[in-house]
Amino acid sequence: MPKTILLIGANRGLGLGLTNEYLTRGWNVIATARNPAHAEALTALKSNHAGQLRIEPFDVTDPKAAGTLTKSLSGIPIDVLFVVAGQSKATDSPIHDVAPEIAAQEFLTNSVAPPTVAEALLPVLAPHAPIVFMTSLLGSLANSRGGMELYRASKAALNMLAIGFAARHPDRRVLLMHPGWVKTDMGGENAPLDVPTSVRGMADVIETQGAGTGITYVDYAGNPIAW
Ligand SMILES: NC(=O)c1ccc[n+]([C@@H]2O[C@H](COP(=O)([O-])OP(=O)(O)OC[C@H]3O[C@@H](n4cnc5c(N)ncnc54)[C@H](OP(=O)(O)O)[C@@H]3O)[C@@H](O)[C@H]2O)c1
Repeated sequence: MPKTILLIGANRGLGLGLTNEYLTRGWNVIATARNPAHAEALTALKSNHAGQLRIEPFDVTDPKAAGTLTKSLSGIPIDVLFVVAGQSKATDSPIHDVAPEIAAQEFLTNSVAPPTVAEALLPVLAPHAPIVFMTSLLGSLANSRGGMELYRASKAALNMLAIGFAARHPDRRVLLMHPGWVKTDMGGENAPLDVPTSVRGMADVIETQGAGTGITYVDYAGNPIAW
């Protein structure tokens, strides 16, 4: 029986790469996009993986999205939940130059939404299913050297909220995943890693570190990251 992964935020970049990686590994994939009608790259993967890929609409900032998806996925046991979606706006601005609505949107998308979405999706997760949140090394308080202030703060907040989530769900395995610095729209052309290398590593880490309970902050190569 093939396993099933639910990828939240798979329209492009690392989410799209993870979709391809898991399909190639023989998994069933439920991949979400904000607008499936325009998810051309995601839809193209269907032709090579007949019956393995299902695409569902999902905006992580829509409070009704998880309830709708939960109803639509009822009865399908999910073996891994990976909340990938994220944004980086106002990258070069110090925090005092960021418009309040931009800051609020970044914290809502990157920090508040992932654990909120995971909480709402718990009814469709198998009891053993690990929950993976896409964070960043840039959210580490130990490694921070300044710069990208809003984004760093939003990922540090995600890490803390994931700790809260894990404490409320001691029976669950929670991984805070740093994908490396990767060539995507967000990572840019200067990033040293390509998407296939990062997603292969992350899938391996989920395989080897996804069982049991407790929370780990880890990179795509399986190395623990200082909080
Ligand atoms: N690339 C890196 O070097 C790097 C490093 C560390 C961490 N990360 C993290 O990895 C994740 C993916 O990044 P990426 O590099 O693949 O970025 P990307 O190419 O910019 O893709 C971002 C993805 O997030 C989705 N998204 C954004 N806001 C959303 C929302 N409100 N609801 C649902 N989906 C939403 C986007 O959907 P649309 O296509 O609809 O916009 C897109 O699929 C992010 O959490 C990012 O912070 C990336």
